[in-house]
Amino acid sequence: MKRPEQLSILFAASEAAPFAKEGGLGDVVGALPKYLARLGHDVRVVIPRYYSVNREKYGLRLLPGTLVVPMGIIGHMYCGVYEGRLPGCDVPIYFLEHEQFYGRSGLYQQDGQGYLDNDNRFVFLSKASLELCKMLDFHPDVIHAHDWHTGIIPALLNTTYLHDRFVGDAASLLTLHNMQHQGNFYPGLMEVLGIGWKHFTYLELEKDDQVNLLKGGIYHATLLNTVSEGYAREIQTPEYGWGLETVVRERATDLYGILNGVDYEEWNPATDPFIAAKFSPRNMKGKAICKSDLQATIGLPQRPDVPLFGVVSRMVKQKGTDILAEAIHRILAMDVQFVMVGNGEPWAHFYFGDIAAKYPEKFACFIGYDEALAHKVEAGADFFVMPSSFEPCGLNQMYSLAYGTPPIVRATGGLVDSVENFDEAALTGTGFKYWQHSATALFDTVGWAAYTFYNKPKGLAALRRNGMKQRFTWEDAAAKYDGLYRQAVRRRRGAEYYRNRFGE
Ligand code: ADP
Ligand code: GLC
Repeated sequence: MKRPEQLSILFAASEAAPFAKEGGLGDVVGALPKYLARLGHDVRVVIPRYYSVNREKYGLRLLPGTLVVPMGIIGHMYCGVYEGRLPGCDVPIYFLEHEQFYGRSGLYQQDGQGYLDNDNRFVFLSKASLELCKMLDFHPDVIHAHDWHTGIIPALLNTTYLHDRFVGDAASLLTLHNMQHQGNFYPGLMEVLGIGWKHFTYLELEKDDQVNLLKGGIYHATLLNTVSEGYAREIQTPEYGWGLETVVRERATDLYGILNGVDYEEWNPATDPFIAAKFSPRNMKGKAICKSDLQATIGLPQRPDVPLFGVVSRMVKQKGTDILAEAIHRILAMDVQFVMVGNGEPWAHFYFGDIAAKYPEKFACFIGYDEALAHKVEAGADFFVMPSSFEPCGLNQMYSLAYGTPPIVRATGGLVDSVENFDEAALTGTGFKYWQHSATALFDTVGWAAYTFYNKPKGLAALRRNGMKQRFTWEDAAAKYDGLYRQAVRRRRGAEYYRNRFGE
């Protein structure tokens, strides 16, 4: 029996690991609910049932009944719902089965081209998430929306769903994982949203004559947060706000930063099933085996004496793929090896494919998505490279710290908050930081790391030790989200309700 001081929370999102993931959003939605459930909360998750979500593999169960989703001018649309569990816990996850919208293998795009019906696909997700509560007889205290895909939920809660018996009084928290993608669509989408044209204003949903779903969410959410404190500050500036900085600044007092955690049950070199040998701070012997295994797996000479740099990333501008492309020839002029795992913009596939052909002894890349290989890179590389132009949080630098693989990062967003610069004299720090977003700064810093590898074994050992001691736990993050949820409930339902329920 749920105790009254515990909360009912619905996560509505476009990805959740391991079912469907393109980036860190999937990691967060796949992990945070588990840790909230451990605090006693009744958490549920809803995402689409893309083709990549294998119903047999995950033992999904079709729920009886059909969701009826009012899609404004399009009319009512219908979908089925599958139920599963997040791995390693009892948290229910619901999958919306809608062949027309989600019956494809991609989440957002194919061959680098966003699906043309992404507007309807994600408005549908947002509305169906609310309708799901009726089907489940679930009365959430908080609906936790993520990025633009479900960012319009707070606006729906304040308009057409305001008097809904199940969700009308639910508070909303909108987590901003990435301000670059905002869900910008033609104005006619207002007719599908069905919340009335009066909300198509400069203050609310309109931006540059288009409907901006994220902007609507920022305006309407009970509370907001980003995935690091640094990024919460950055998005209030023109450099990082992508045109929404003024809207964000309007809500600055309701905006918080909570650094993502690492799921150390998934990312732990002492237990990782994907890597060739286990290791831990007390016994690092396995790391050399992992390096040699990685070199063999990707077809580089199995040299222990050369620094091996790794990248696992979406190949897009955000991640500095263009900067790396510019720096790579200079980097490969040194005695180093480089492995790159990623997919994204087509030009990068060709470009780095050519680099691999040109430098077969030094550079290898795998174009595509490969979970096992990502773990092998974290474990086997000597350094992990993240030349991001912006980085709301970034998970890979935290994973690499756990694997004794010092990260080389551009100092932005969550990379500032989670990596401490190396101090050669004091033997402190966990990685290598640089500030200017340029190929030269990246090259210099990779050079500094290579120099450390060759000439400062004590420094490298200290970096590894210091990094492996770091802990970015979901327990910490979940406790902070717990605080935000309670604050949001007080805001939505009033101080009296809050006092009666929580006695504070
Ligand atoms: P973002 O969400 O901006 O892509 P994050 O660092 O938060 O960046 O998260 C990226 C996540 O996606 C990590 O778990 C990373 O290992 C994973 N990832 C990215 N590209 C690949 C790939 N090609 N193969 C396997 N995992 C990948
Ligand atoms: C976004 C950001 C990334 C962050 C992730 C999870 O995709 O680009 O920095 O770690 O969301 O919050």
